[in-house]
Amino acid sequence: MKRFTEDPRFAGIMPFEKKIWLSSPTMHGDEQHWVDDAIRTNWVSTVGANINEVEKQIAEYIGVKYAVALSCGTAALHLATKLAGEKLYGQARPNAGTLQGHKVFCSDMTFDASINPVAYEDGDAIFIDTEPDTWNMSPEALEKAFELYPDVRLIVVAHLYGTPGKMEEIRRIAEAHGALIVEDAAESLGAKYKLNGEWVETGTLGNYNCISFNGNKIITGSAGGMFLTNSVEDANKVRKWSTQSREAAPWYQHEEIGYNYRMSNIIAGVVRGQMPYLEAHIAQKKAIYERYKAGLSDLPVRMNPFDAEKSQPNFWLSCMIIDEDAMAPQVRGEQDYLYTTEPGKSSPQEILDALSAFNAEGRPIWKPMHMQPIYRTHAFITAEGNGRGSSNAYIAGSGMDVGADIFRRGLCLPSDNKVTPEQQDVIIDIIHRCFR
Ligand SMILES: Cc1ncc(COP(=O)(O)O)c(C=O)c1O
Repeated sequence: MKRFTEDPRFAGIMPFEKKIWLSSPTMHGDEQHWVDDAIRTNWVSTVGANINEVEKQIAEYIGVKYAVALSCGTAALHLATKLAGEKLYGQARPNAGTLQGHKVFCSDMTFDASINPVAYEDGDAIFIDTEPDTWNMSPEALEKAFELYPDVRLIVVAHLYGTPGKMEEIRRIAEAHGALIVEDAAESLGAKYKLNGEWVETGTLGNYNCISFNGNKIITGSAGGMFLTNSVEDANKVRKWSTQSREAAPWYQHEEIGYNYRMSNIIAGVVRGQMPYLEAHIAQKKAIYERYKAGLSDLPVRMNPFDAEKSQPNFWLSCMIIDEDAMAPQVRGEQDYLYTTEPGKSSPQEILDALSAFNAEGRPIWKPMHMQPIYRTHAFITAEGNGRGSSNAYIAGSGMDVGADIFRRGLCLPSDNKVTPEQQDVIIDIIHRCFR
């Protein structure tokens, strides 16, 4: 990183003394109180008052009847996906997944935890390209996917970086094709969406809905997640599956495969302590987004977009994307990269390296799932149709899709809610200097 600290473009900038994180936990003291309470009362288990209380508080906040506290968002997504599979295709044998032999349409630009449960349940994920307006699943590409695969009955959709996707359109398409939706609101707790003229929370928009309390999320338990539903049967089923599927017998009796996915009462204590600060965290993240937006407005870049009429993001991560004609050459391999720099231009990798040299953490945009080595053999559908093999030596064009393009030109900025305006101004200055 000497290259940057000795580069005359960055003369006079000192590395941050304390690292500026992408998004780290922000504790307030109440968390300690509820953790101590669990220990003092000896409810150091997967039952206890903290669990009951956070389930109640989250259900009320989100506006659903039931919230089931689980060990992580991935566990919630797994059980949501399994519920959908059972509903659609019936109970599977103990050694088989509920989606065996079935295709599932999935958000492409998301964290792999959204869609790995499709594989856990032996399903075949088909990735749906991203739209440029909110960086979420493209309804046009989803329509195209139903033309190509009319038998599909399940859609897994995420809200990237806390920005709600085009859920009205996606729900309409799902309904027209008799498909169910698993909603991954892991990154978007507290984000609102206008559905048929009414503001609702993300986490209410699918048939099966999930949130996460991972350490980097808008509020955290250090880990943890929840399944959200209005169906008492679904809530009870998830509770049962998450506690090893015990039957009501005096001994351990099992009719179904089970999981150890319940949230700990200690973790729930941390979540309980964070709950009063959810709105404050969202306000801080929004201020960070707006400061970046204003500070970067004279550069050939844009912030991650959202639909201000139809959504109120939680602004979990602030991101930027570089205009095509201001992109300096950048090449990414599987695990390494190269770039050059040119006056007036820069690239995500150069900016990320510069931030890192001055002790600030950014991150590349989540690499789309259809580009991941593990999912390369899976179908990928764009608004034009089949996104695989759409270019060749005789057809002009790069075969570039929206997701790959955002990954190439975009990056996540340091978005920790403890960053001060002064520190943010230094980050903005560093980014400006990358374009010199
Ligand atoms: C979009 C998305 N889905 C799912 C998850 C998984 O949540 P957890 O880490 O709580 O398992 C995460 C983050 O971690 C995420 O960002």
